[in-house]
This record gives sequence, structure tokens and C-alpha cells, in this order.
Amino acid sequence: MITAALPYANGPLHIGHIAGAYLPPDIYVRYLRLKGKDVVFVCGSDEHGAAITLRAQKEGTTPQKIVDEYHAINEKGFKDFGIEFDIYHRTSSELHHKTASDFFKKLHDNDVLTQNETEQFYDEENKQFLADRYITGECPHCHYDSAYGDQCEKCGTSLSPKDLINPKSSLSGLTPIRKKTTHWYIPLNKYEDWLKEWILDGHKNDWKPNVYGQCKSWIVDQGLQPRAVTRDLAWGIPVPLEGAEGKVLYVWLDAPIGYISATKALTEKWKDYWQDEESKLVHFIGKDNIVFHCIIFPIMLKAHGEYILPDNVPSNEFMNLEGEKISTSRNWAIWLHEYLAENPGKEDVLRYVLCANAPESKDSEFTWKDYQARNNNELVAILGNFVNRSLVLTSKYFENTVPKLGPLNEFDKQTLVDLQSYPDKIGTSIEKYKFREALSELMNLARLGNKYLADSEPWKEIKDNPEHVATVLNISLQISSALAILMEPFLPFTSKKLKTILKIKDTNWESAKNDHILSAGNQLEKSELLFSKIEDGFVQEQVEKLKKSMTQSQVSENGQAKSHINFEDFSKLDIRIGTILAAERVPKTDKLLKLQVDTGKETRTIVSGIAEYYEPESIIGQQVSVLTNLEPRKIKGIESEGMILMAENESGELAFVSPEKEIEKGSVVR
Ligand code: 2FM
Ligand code: ZN
Repeated sequence: MITAALPYANGPLHIGHIAGAYLPPDIYVRYLRLKGKDVVFVCGSDEHGAAITLRAQKEGTTPQKIVDEYHAINEKGFKDFGIEFDIYHRTSSELHHKTASDFFKKLHDNDVLTQNETEQFYDEENKQFLADRYITGECPHCHYDSAYGDQCEKCGTSLSPKDLINPKSSLSGLTPIRKKTTHWYIPLNKYEDWLKEWILDGHKNDWKPNVYGQCKSWIVDQGLQPRAVTRDLAWGIPVPLEGAEGKVLYVWLDAPIGYISATKALTEKWKDYWQDEESKLVHFIGKDNIVFHCIIFPIMLKAHGEYILPDNVPSNEFMNLEGEKISTSRNWAIWLHEYLAENPGKEDVLRYVLCANAPESKDSEFTWKDYQARNNNELVAILGNFVNRSLVLTSKYFENTVPKLGPLNEFDKQTLVDLQSYPDKIGTSIEKYKFREALSELMNLARLGNKYLADSEPWKEIKDNPEHVATVLNISLQISSALAILMEPFLPFTSKKLKTILKIKDTNWESAKNDHILSAGNQLEKSELLFSKIEDGFVQEQVEKLKKSMTQSQVSENGQAKSHINFEDFSKLDIRIGTILAAERVPKTDKLLKLQVDTGKETRTIVSGIAEYYEPESIIGQQVSVLTNLEPRKIKGIESEGMILMAENESGELAFVSPEKEIEKGSVVR
């Protein structure tokens, strides 16, 4: 029973999602199927929660419209990328509502839940309780000023709204009042001993260190607290109890139950996968979901009483892009649906790069340069080259039919022995969730083929020893066939292409070891190149596109209005009034001035591109607006600690944005 995290249907998928939680299970499941296992692989849209409702409110539309739009986009994206779920379900479906509702009722009937009245934050203007992302404030741990009510995205700490310093409503920006409300809680603390035994003792050696470490920190270092599993919201699954009108299930309670409802929607035999001790449950997720899948959902499953527990929760770290964190709001991302539309036939190239570079044990990095290098130096030069040479020589010397295996020399024998070892080698790595290692073994098999061909030199032997050339090409085609089978989990599109050329059917993992998969005398299909070279121009184009789309998302073009931001977005800017104390030109530049600006508490060095408009001495004493929490950046070797705000007209003329009367340095602009 394999699950992949249900993505929120509030936006499209990017390569970070894919590398983290979707490509790995797809590889795993394809492998298990080739091994003849009975596997079910489910996913679907997570359609509840504040992520969805906030977006709908922001865009002035309904949650249903948002989830309908992105459910369709994401379902298609996965399919076109060869991520083959058995079902891509939805948590807004009736079946899911019923399943989650029954699950909650069962927890309630088993006396697992407690009911508590507490004071919670409330937005009087919007008449709404503020939980999770509806409330932001300063993180008490790292002091990040836009932490959410349930989690600080900067330091990763799980929070509750009352932990936030200076809390504000995400809807109105107002300071909320406190109001009484009743909710149901799951007492995670009661399960601490059980979790210590089950995870800390039981899964010390088989769960990945990053997953195990996070669990340990939750259970031992931080200690578990009761957690509310209901919310005062209009969108979600109604709490199926009397007196709970207007309340819905917490999204993180219903979402993982979505795996169960998806399986129910798929097969009547769903219990075989979820409730039979013989079944093996594996959750693939990204690191931000660890606590929910390793602690909360297992507690729910155990408390329910009829379910098996996850055998493993292989979670990945994050993938960065061109030196920066992937960011949806800044549009710093490669979107799956865009990549697929713009690069038809290159699905496997991206699958290859994302797997070769997967953030398995630490954050990793995608760059277009690396994408090009891996395509050109690995897919084209190693894998494609070997298969192509085997096919071209077969066509040239043997009219494109599989030649006969004759007497073997030592090198031939050794090569066949080596070939036999690859299915197990690759399989062992996959079973350990080490997909990078598995892929690199697959490439080693192609390297073995290349070396075999290069050292056997059939082109030199063809005149004097055509019989041995037949053997060499038979073995080369056997290696190609093994590659076609073993690459399927990683490169399914290429695998299909190559199997068609070699006319191999009905394969399983073990058949890669089998030397009868190709019969001598078989006519092959005309060959075609498996991969093609990517030029430098493509890389430049992609990097420029990325930069441009980020700028466009931030700067309005042709006077067009920018998309709405909410108060929370605005309140991230720390703009203060400062006074310029000193200014000098930055040597060897025309545009830059190095300024010393007194921002109230301190004097900052700021590099500003205003030298064409202002003489350094003319601006001393000028009051200006300074964005003080812009990430420091080195410009011409000088660390610039902020940005001076300027007004710019269409002809590029600049003017300071200054207060209309003298005001204290450090005054806040809001
Ligand atoms: O982090 C997310 O995108 C969540 N929607 C994942 C949910 S996983 C599961 F529990 F459904
Ligand atoms: Zn924090």
C-alpha cells in the first residue's frame, strides 16, 4: 500500500514537489510491479484547509472553483509525467467525507478524543476564528515575523496561535480579540511511551536518519501536547457530532484518511491493503509532513484499532533552484505543467535529473546547467550512446536481426556474469529507498556495455572473425534489453521506446537476467536515438525565463495592476525612515553610490543605484524610506544592508520617497 502526499489543490506542482514526494514512489511502485508484487499506489488532491480558503478569499472566488481548477491541472501533470497512480482521488468527494467522518466518530466512540472549551483568537471584522494560516505573528523561537498559527515556516517549529508574539489576522491585519469556543482534541501526549517503543526502538535502523531524527526531536526533546482536531470554519468536513454545528475536521485529520478513501474508491478489497498484517504500508512525503505521517496519523490509526501502521515513511528534504529556495509566491520555480508543455518528449530527461539529484538525505539543487550536463554527458554520452552503437552495428553487420551467440572468450563470459548482478544491485538500492544510488547503478550497466563494445572492437574483427562479432553484438543487445527493463522505473518513456525497438514484451525484473529474452534471428525495429544533445542556448533561455517570470510576478508591466497581496504580505516589509549621513561613489561604476544611512537604532551601509541622478554631497541629510529587512547582498564587494525606496517615472527619472515633514529617524512606514 503505497501513498504519495496529497498535494493541496491550491496551486500547480513544481519540480521540488516531484523530486520530493512523487517521483520516488513512482520508481518504487514500478519496481515492485516488475517484481510481481500486488501494489496499490494512491494519491489525490487535498482540498480542505486554510491553504485553500485563504486563496479563495484572496482571489474573491470560491474554494470549490480553486480546487476544481488545480485538481485537473495536477492530475494531468502527473499523468503526462508518467507518475502512474492507480487513482488520483479528491478529499472533497462524498466517499472521502463519509470515510473521514466515520473515522472521527470511531475515535470519538472509542473515547480517544477530549472536548475542551478554550479562548481562541477571533477576527471581529470578518467574524471568524483564526487558526492555522489565518493568523500570523512573530515566532517565539526564531523571531521570524510572519510565522503561521500552526507552524513557523522559517525554523519549522510547530506552533499554536497563542505562541505567536504580536498576532495579527491574515484576513484584516487587525489584532484579534479572544473568544470562547469548543473543540475536540487528540491527546498525543498519551501515546508518547508507545511512540518511543514503536519508532525510537522499533525503527531506529530502517527509517531514514532525517525522519528518525525529527521524530525523536518531537517525542523526546519537545514532548507531545494534545492537538485540536476540529476547526471553526465553513469549508471542510462537518464534525459529525451534536453541538458541533459550524465546525469542521482539521485538514490534517482528514487529509491522510484521504489515502484510505482513495483506496476504497479504487477497490472493494481495500481492507486487504489497510487492515491485513501481511500488507506493507509506505508513505512518501516531503520533510514538512513528517510529524503528520510519523506521529499524528499513526496515533489515529492505532487509536482506531483496525488499521496497520506504516512500515516506513521515506521523506525527502527540499530541492533548491539555481541557488535559491523554490518559492511559489516569488514565482521562482519550474512548474511541471509548463515544463511538459514546452519540452515534449523530454519527460525522462527531467525524471532522470530529478532522481539523480533527489534531496534524499539533504537539500539538493536543480540548475539548468546541471540538467544540460546530465543529459549530454550521461543520458546521451553513456546510455544513449551504448544502445545506439549496439543497434547501429547490428543493423550494419546483421541486417538488423539479433545475431547468434557463439563461443565465448573470457571477456564475454565475465561481461555476462557482471550483467547478471545488476538487477539485484539496483533492486537492493530501491528497496532501501536509495533511488539515486539505484540510478547510478543503472548507468554503471550502460558503462559496462560501453566498455565491452569499445574493448571488443567489433568493427576491427568483422573481416576476420564475423562469428565473434555476432557474439559481441548478441551480448550488447542482451545488455540493451536488460537496460530497457531495468530503466523502466526511472525512465518509463525511454524504456517503452527501447522495448519496441528490441521487440521485447512481458518483462519482469528477473527477466533482465535471462539470456533468452532476445532470440537469435529476431528482426528488430528500425532504431532511433533515445536522447538528443541540449545546446547552451537552451540553458540560457531557461535561466532567463525563470528570472523574467520572477520579475514579472513582482513588477507590474505597462502600468498594469499587480495581483492582490494581503495584509500579511505587506506586513513582511520593514520600511523605516532614515537619514543619509554619508555618500560616496562606488569606484569603477557609473550608477552606484555607497551610502551610510542612520535608521534610528543603527547606521547601515547601503549601495544604491542613484549615482546618475544625485551628486554624493547633495544628498547628505536627506530623509529617505529604507526597506530595512531586505536580505543583505554583496554589491561590488560591499555588503549592502537594505534598500532605499525611490519613485521612478516612465523615462527613468528618480526621486526619493521622503516624509512630507521631518520625522524621527527609525519611524515606521506602514
Ligand atoms: O503539505 C501538503 O501539501 C499537504 N497537502 C499534504 C497532505 S498529505 C496527506 F496527509 F494527505
Ligand atoms: Zn521560527
